[in-house]
Amino acid sequence: MLWSGHGRSRELVATTPEDRPLSVQIFSGRTDDLIRAAVWLQENGYEGVDINMGCPMAKVNGSGGGARLMCSTDSAVRMVEQLIAAVRLPVTVKMRLGWDSSMITAPQLAAAFEQIGVAAVTIHGRTRAQGFHGTVNRDGIRQVVEAVRTMPVIANGDVRTVDEAFRMMHETGCAAVAIGRGAMLDPWIFRRIQSTLQTGTAAEPDADEQLQFLQQHFELMQQQHADRSCVLFRKFAAWYGATLGIPEDLEDRLRRFETVGEFQQIIAAIRQRHGERARKVPTALLKVPNGPVEHW
Ligand SMILES: Cc1cc2nc3c(=O)[nH]c(=O)nc-3n(C[C@H](O)[C@H](O)[C@H](O)COP(=O)(O)O)c2cc1C
Repeated sequence: MLWSGHGRSRELVATTPEDRPLSVQIFSGRTDDLIRAAVWLQENGYEGVDINMGCPMAKVNGSGGGARLMCSTDSAVRMVEQLIAAVRLPVTVKMRLGWDSSMITAPQLAAAFEQIGVAAVTIHGRTRAQGFHGTVNRDGIRQVVEAVRTMPVIANGDVRTVDEAFRMMHETGCAAVAIGRGAMLDPWIFRRIQSTLQTGTAAEPDADEQLQFLQQHFELMQQQHADRSCVLFRKFAAWYGATLGIPEDLEDRLRRFETVGEFQQIIAAIRQRHGERARKVPTALLKVPNGPVEHW
């Protein structure tokens, strides 16, 4: 709870001055909760508020939030309207196509949201019933694009490569593409897309940039977590090992290091032995909820 002054939420929205414009997503099944959170964001200098209408998890849906909001379109629209009236910030909505294939409400909701002044919607092209299974439904996203006049529709789901980003744009007519897991696997995907648009070729990060990225990640963790940063950083060892092609013995040291000095020694060794192991997109490291969606 952002406004309560304690808890982990404040830690989650902590950021740096460069991270602008910054919009924060909030969720609740209760309008007054959403308004309090949005007002807090406005008072604390954030630049946008996004409402979560896509989360499939039982603890969020059970209290009427996340994708559950898509089941009662009138009350969802009233809720968003009240939120827009309560803040000056642009309000956006993130949703799925609907609750299940018999209840595809995203086009209707998007059209209504446009009427009440929502700034943009992001559509994950699956229903809540699909969870993260099956392929994303680009045709479903296109139907949302066709349901609105000028409000930007941001298409989302399964974009992992530059080609998939372009395919999403072409097949849906969306204004932009949002990339989730693809960016967690490969943070350079945005630059690849941008350079492909500008020059026709995807710019690859060189060895120095890759190492700088790793070092900066650790430095930022030190700023945020001080003494805990070595232990917290270790959980990224496998990701960096695969993504940067770090030799396995050094990846193993990255998994166990205890001091900043030790970290620097590992970096120096990685720099010397760059290219020994092939780089690989670490797809096996992606975790999504599993089993029947009713039990999530
Ligand atoms: C572990 C995990 C956590 C997620 N948390 C959120 C969330 O808090 N809010 C949200 O709107 N979407 C959330 N999503 C959904 C993603 O934003 C996105 O819609 C979905 O993963 C499909 O896009 P992608 O294939 O680019 O990842 C989450 C997805 C995963 C895998």
